[in-house]
Amino acid sequence: NLILNATGVAAILWWSVASFRLHNLHGPSGINSEDVMEVEAPRVGKGGKGQPKVRGAKAPHQDPAEGSKVLPKDDAPSAPAPVAVTLPKGDIRWGNEETWHLIPAKPGSDMNTVTCSIQHLPDNVPGDDGKHCQCLVTPGSDFHRAMNPMLMDEADANSLGAELAASCQLFFDARKHGAADAAQWLATEGLCSEAWEEKALLNRSFKAGSRQINVETRQQLLRARVDVRFKTNWARLRDTDGWYRKAWVSYVGGPPTSQFVKMAEELIKSVHYFSEHPILMFNFGLFTPKTWSEERFPQLVILHAAPLPNEPRIRRSFNFNKLRAILMSRALNAVEVDVDQFVAPGADVLFSLTSKWVNKEYSFPLMPAHFLDWSIKDQPAAPWWPRYCPDPEKPCPMQTMRWCHAHPTWTHWALPFFGRWVRRHFRDERLPNVTVKGFHAPGLKVGDINEDEDLLNVGLWEERATKQWCKMDVPATVEFDSLLSWTPAHGHRCTNGIGCTNIGGDNRWYKKGVPKVYWTAHHAIDPEQTATYLERIRKHHKEGKWPAAIVYEERFWKSGDELKKEHPGLACLT
Ligand SMILES: *[C@@H]1O[C@H](CO)[C@@H](O)[C@H](O)[C@H]1NC(C)=O
Ligand SMILES: *[C@@H]1O[C@H](CO)[C@@H](O)[C@H](O)[C@H]1NC(C)=O
Repeated sequence: NLILNATGVAAILWWSVASFRLHNLHGPSGINSEDVMEVEAPRVGKGGKGQPKVRGAKAPHQDPAEGSKVLPKDDAPSAPAPVAVTLPKGDIRWGNEETWHLIPAKPGSDMNTVTCSIQHLPDNVPGDDGKHCQCLVTPGSDFHRAMNPMLMDEADANSLGAELAASCQLFFDARKHGAADAAQWLATEGLCSEAWEEKALLNRSFKAGSRQINVETRQQLLRARVDVRFKTNWARLRDTDGWYRKAWVSYVGGPPTSQFVKMAEELIKSVHYFSEHPILMFNFGLFTPKTWSEERFPQLVILHAAPLPNEPRIRRSFNFNKLRAILMSRALNAVEVDVDQFVAPGADVLFSLTSKWVNKEYSFPLMPAHFLDWSIKDQPAAPWWPRYCPDPEKPCPMQTMRWCHAHPTWTHWALPFFGRWVRRHFRDERLPNVTVKGFHAPGLKVGDINEDEDLLNVGLWEERATKQWCKMDVPATVEFDSLLSWTPAHGHRCTNGIGCTNIGGDNRWYKKGVPKVYWTAHHAIDPEQTATYLERIRKHHKEGKWPAAIVYEERFWKSGDELKKEHPGLACLT
């Protein structure tokens, strides 16, 4: 039959798994015997034996609401979403184990798109929820080189030359090299180490909940390999100790034709236009565009990691990949940018300002104030409000600042914060009842927190963090029109359009509103429009027709210091 024919051809072609049950051949990207730890304790991986299979890990899909705040989806359906596989040429097959339905390549077409669900394809293995798609790949082809090596066999990934850029083993081995490596291990030990896990069993404070992801799977989730096409950039842009001095960090997943990937390309372009620093793009999808190359993007490094597991009990939102990217980036000083953002002139100052604020004493990421002062009134079902602020009209000692947008900047000092909260989430730990200033805060099951942004806010409040950026991720691309219409004759006056107004104020933190800072744009969801803005901004900037980035009370401010002098009560940083 067709399937046997296809298998027969596998002497020269091999089947690679498309829709993320990864390889049939082993678990969630597999630790092989080379990764076996020789050390006694703490162990970070037994390797090889008994790796659980992640069945049907997450699809190459990015939440369209990503970045914009959505109410908690308490009633989100638990059935896995169908996976649309879009692959250049090549046959695709659907099924499991021995039973396959073949979808042959369309002759003359460059893409073959298939929605992998029983609504669209025959239910050839009734009752088996492990059905998935696989696609045929030619070794050595451009497509093979652009593929996510974390979805290949270990041996295939190694022979392709896709070196390991991050892993528990690597973090453990480096942990004594310096302060950054020590922070990296402190951040990842609870995610990586089986010895840590055994100790945690003895202490009720670390009790894992029903939605926990086990330590073997967590180890897999902290592995990344470099894209073979970007190995020169990867080596050139970082230091000999393996760390990037300064880097933009982003993440994406989806076929090259998807809106998200096109947005990512504009973000990458903007970094090349307006920044001196590298951008580390983590791919959690099947492959990235063939047109992304080192020649075109000398500041780009693509790193690949496996998707999150998709099993209902342990599933996490796609955006937790942001936190994985942060933990795997090995950047001393970094700024996370979502694919619906772009970088603007002057943005590089974010790096030096971040290292001014984030240090040994204040070891938290900095995130911008959200454009809305979210509270229980907007999110009555969100599980964290009873703990942090059951009534915004009354004092809430557990909520230390206005809701932040999940666009973090950090130095290595904040890595343990990220690691701690990803661990609490991935182990589904519980925050205990506490009393603060006479306020009784009920406990919270961390695994019940739906999104990365929710978790980061909870973490910052819980640890009494108090610093946030002003709105350095301006909410809409069109607001840049106010800067594009500026001429030197206007001086420091910002007079034209919505880009000159403050972000809406609130009763608790910002009575007069929040300053906008035009270092990055957010909600840049139309790649063609973004491309046009980037060219216009670049032209104005080159011609010296670009104002200072900070806007507050309808004027431009040259620096945070100048703004602070005039408005000492402002609670946000610039
Ligand atoms: C359990 O862990 C908590 C938090 O780290 C710590 O304060 C406590 O002393 C530990 N308890 C025991 C019995 O080790
Ligand atoms: C925590 O507080 C809740 C009420 O907010 C209460 O029902 C529960 O018994 C408390 N748990 C402990 C361990 O004190």
